[in-house]
Amino acid sequence: MIFYFSATGNSQHVATRIAEAIGTQAQSIETASSEIVLTDNEPLGFVTPTNWNELPVLVREFIRKAEIRLAKDNYVFAVATYGFLQGFVCEDARRELKRKGIVMNAGFSVKMPDNWTPMFDLSDPAKVQQQVDAAEPQIDEVIAMIKAGTQGNKSHDRMPYFFRPITDRLLTYERQTKFFAVDKNACIGCGLCAKKCPVQAIEMQETAKTETNKLGKNPVWTAERCALCLGCLHRCPKFAISYNNKTQSHGQYQHSKYYKKG
Ligand SMILES: Cc1cc2nc3c(=O)[nH]c(=O)nc-3n(C[C@H](O)[C@H](O)[C@H](O)COP(=O)(O)O)c2cc1C
Ligand code: SF4
Ligand code: SF4
Repeated sequence: MIFYFSATGNSQHVATRIAEAIGTQAQSIETASSEIVLTDNEPLGFVTPTNWNELPVLVREFIRKAEIRLAKDNYVFAVATYGFLQGFVCEDARRELKRKGIVMNAGFSVKMPDNWTPMFDLSDPAKVQQQVDAAEPQIDEVIAMIKAGTQGNKSHDRMPYFFRPITDRLLTYERQTKFFAVDKNACIGCGLCAKKCPVQAIEMQETAKTETNKLGKNPVWTAERCALCLGCLHRCPKFAISYNNKTQSHGQYQHSKYYKKG
């Protein structure tokens, strides 16, 4: 079984590709049961985005809550998808699993478009397409290593673990919902952002009905629950959500818009 979290589709794609190749299922942690019972030889994988070099809060919480019952010869691995620096995601996963008495056999990474658009520019479709295409051979390589039962942390673009307290503080700072804003002239009040938020950090509140916003609803961020996946920003059908003043010029991203099965 492979568990993934994915806001913009990178990790879902990687999890699905690996699952198909090794003959198992890929399941989102948003719908997965926390009781995980494996059979003999069944692999256990976690595919996750990188958040400020570390394991995203939601993935960490999922692993902590999970009751994992291993059987015989279960190969346990983590794959970090990332755009710039994977940091210590695999090391984080290894430590989280170790706390549960589970030995993680291997860690891998796949470099993909970086959905942290407060910094990275994904507004040029040709460049984004190149990044999506470049991920495919990396995924093939990860699959080959998993099939070979590779051991150890094989992930790329790592950072020493002692930086973690610093990146942790940055992530906590960035999670403040005051950085989100909605363009009330663009929002149609559809509620998709609130519906899809994995931690219910968005509430739809009444506003004046207009020609654009016939439903008379606007999203409001509930104080400090946000996991900072940026799913709301990237999925909004009107690109009405921004995070600080950079994201509007950096485009929206969803892996499925670029991936063409070959
Ligand atoms: C809050 C946040 C922080 C991020 N931090 C990093 C980072 O430190 N290093 C990096 O390479 N990518 C970083 N990214 C980019 C994502 O990890 C990357 O685009 C990932 O593949 C997205 O996966 P998804 O499409 O499955 O959600 C960050 C993204 C977000 C939203
Ligand atoms: S998804 Fe976009 S358009 Fe729909 S309610 Fe949210 S901000 Fe408005
Ligand atoms: S508010 Fe947006 S960024 Fe924060 S957890 Fe919800 S969907 Fe993700």
